[in-house]
Order: sequence, then C-alpha cells, then structure tokens
Amino acid sequence: LDYINPKLILETSITEPNEVIWQSPSNIALIKYWGKYGNQLPKNPSISFTLDQAVSQTAIAYSPKENNDDYGISLSFKFHGEHQPAFESRMKKFLESLTGIFPFLNQLDLDVRSTNSFPHSAGIASSASSMSALALCLCSMEHELFGTLEDNIQFDQKASFIARLGSGSACRSVYPLLAMWGESSSVPGSSNEYAIGMADHVHDVFTTFHNDILIVSKDEKEVSSTVGHNLMENNLYADNRYLQAKQRLNSLLDILKSGDLEAFGRIVEDEALTLHALMMTSNPSFVLMRPGTLTLIEKIRAYRKDTGHQVYFSLDAGPNIHLMYPSDIAYAVRGWIESDLQQHCEDRFWIADGVGEGPVEM
Ligand code: PMV
Repeated sequence: LDYINPKLILETSITEPNEVIWQSPSNIALIKYWGKYGNQLPKNPSISFTLDQAVSQTAIAYSPKENNDDYGISLSFKFHGEHQPAFESRMKKFLESLTGIFPFLNQLDLDVRSTNSFPHSAGIASSASSMSALALCLCSMEHELFGTLEDNIQFDQKASFIARLGSGSACRSVYPLLAMWGESSSVPGSSNEYAIGMADHVHDVFTTFHNDILIVSKDEKEVSSTVGHNLMENNLYADNRYLQAKQRLNSLLDILKSGDLEAFGRIVEDEALTLHALMMTSNPSFVLMRPGTLTLIEKIRAYRKDTGHQVYFSLDAGPNIHLMYPSDIAYAVRGWIESDLQQHCEDRFWIADGVGEGPVEM
C-alpha cells in the first residue's frame, strides 16, 4: 500500500479553521501479536474484540499556520487539559513521520486535546485507543480538506494503516466487535499493513460478551511492548510461536462462528499464557504477571469447575486480568467479582467492560 500523496497540499489562504473529534476504544487480543519486523509489521496474524468502555477521545483543532515561514509540525498537545511535554514531543515525532502521507500537516497549526475514560495510572495500556483516535482524526482532516476518503472502507483502511504505524495493536481498534490484523491464507483481504473488520463472522453470543478488567497493579510496566517485541528476534521459540498463532487463529475463526464457548476459552487462555511464556523465555527474561494475577487465574479456573459457568481470562502485556463471559451469567459473575475477586485488585479497582461498537465521530 502506498499512501504517499504529494497532492494533499493546501491552499492555506482559503482553508478555514476547523476541528475534528473521534472517540475510539481499546481492544483485547484473542490471538496475540507479539513479534514484529520492518515498519511495524506483524510476524503473525492477530484477532481482537473491540472494547466498549475503555476509550480515548481526541480532538484536533487546526488552522492555517500563522507564520507560514515556520517549517515542520506546529503542535500543542494537552492530555486531560494539561500540557504534557513528553507526550507532545512523542506525538510531534509521530506526526513528522507522517508528513509524506499527510503533507498538509506541515501547513497547519495543530491543537490536539486528548482524554481517556479510564484513569491514566490504571495500568491499562492506552496506546490502542489513543493511536486509533488520532489516526481517525487525521483521516477526517484529509476528508474535510480534500474531499478524499469518501468511501467508508477506504477511510477505515487508511485509519487502520495510520494507527498501526503509531502502535501495532491500535490498527484493530478501528472496527466494531471483532477485527483481524495480519495476512492469513484462510482470510481473503487480510493484510499485514492494516486490520479488517470481522463483525460478520461471529456467533450472537459474542456480540454481548463481557470483558471486565481486573486491575491487579496500576504501576507502569517495567518492560515496554516495543522492547518485548524486539526480544522476540532472539527468542528460541519464536518460529514455532508464529506457526502456532496461525494455527490457533484458524481454529478460533471456526469457533467464533459456532459459538463453542469451551473451545473459545481454551484457546484464549492458552494465548494469554503463551504471551507471558514468551516474555519469560526472552533473553533477558522478564515477568509482567504479579502474584495477584496468578491468584486470580487459579480462582477463575476453580470457579469454572465448581459452577460450570463459562468464565475465562485473558492478559495483555501487563499483570491485569481480562475476565470474559457471556451476558446470561453476568449477574452471578458480578456478585462473585465483588465478593471474591475485587480483593486482589489494587485499591479494589476494576472496570466493567465488554465488546463494543467501535469508534464514534463526535
Ligand atoms: O501494539 P503494541 O506494540 O503495544 O503491542 C501490543 C501487544 C499485545 O497487546 C500484548 C498483544 C496484542 O495483540 O494486542
């Protein structure tokens, strides 16, 4: 895909100031992306549920540069109403890297404001929601300024492509319900460069699936996912892992259609533990789970055995548990979280979430 487009240059004298706003969710991978090559391309295909409550909202106000002699990106960035110099310089670098694709960014004063629905220090990675919200805003700007990206599929594809350059997993947040990223011979149209929507490929039971996030630790993680991905390059198990992910993805695609929850849960839990096993077998090794993570995993498996309720866990690159279950047992599970699981959460903090409808333009 070549999005380099030198034609996207403005006649700044006739450009009106304007603002675009998008709200975009986080996602939880069922088949994990861990290991990359080139410019943020995945070593294996991944698939995720789009979440509902864990969202970022990003607004970009733009106007022609006051000082047209200024070259480069002119950016002011506020997070929850406050200047964040560290975030600002990271975003500036990212926008600079996009000026081949969006040359008009060099011609505007950009005022970016962003908020998250969840506390910043909740130990929840916000890169998927914030990068997808930013990418959607940039595509809306292109659309407003040049009348391009009229077609929804093209719009989503470009937004997903741009989000991927910001943070790989963010490319999946652009779509409702279920999204897949990475080439697979069994899915026509799949690509390493952007994610595709898979909402039509799921059994009804998953359209109202719950995904509560149990916050075991609010600490910032010790090893970033960038470092984690890079450590896969010398991981002895890497090649087998990529093969395994492809095989599991094929099985999961059938399961997502059939609604077989037991088979779903087995693959999702195995994926979560495989991701953390890869961390533990990296050189140097690292562990992102905490004692509370293991306590919760044991409790979830015991509860499932005792009650027959189909409750499963996932993990992303951190210690927090994603608790997944169908909506018909939501009442019972909520009681159990409050009576037995919440005590293992930092400050008893957890977020009731579930699969969601994807980004919204505000
Ligand atoms: O998007 P990144 O580079 O932060 O990687 C995220 C990787 C996992 O969350 C662990 C798995 C995934 O597929 O989302």
